[in-house]
Amino acid sequence: MLTNINEHLWVTTSENLREGCYLKLDVYYAGETISVIVIRHKGKCFAYRNRCLHMPRELDCIEDKIFDESGQYLRCSMHGIVYDPSTGMSVSDICYRKRLTSIELMENEQGVWIVDRRVQPLVV
Ligand code: FES
Repeated sequence: MLTNINEHLWVTTSENLREGCYLKLDVYYAGETISVIVIRHKGKCFAYRNRCLHMPRELDCIEDKIFDESGQYLRCSMHGIVYDPSTGMSVSDICYRKRLTSIELMENEQGVWIVDRRVQPLVV
């Protein structure tokens, strides 16, 4: 559950975002509801809009996972485009060097926060 404090949206505790795992949440972004993936890779947290660059599909639309078998890349389960987790850049021939939409994060002693001003919590 997102909590809005000083325009920062708390996502989860640091312990809950383990290496190679991901969290998925819906937020309000630039006028629409979108899915966001939050990952930890090599100790750092990253967030991206969960929308492949090849077609408008979520990266985990077929399989319930985001990382490839090596754990070193994000992989779209639809047709297999592979992305660098730390930049969101495609390293596949398809969409080569294009980037997933990055969502700005911050991590502190309370956990992981979305600090991207384009993002708002969904109004219930
Ligand atoms: S929709 Fe993601 S690789 Fe085709």
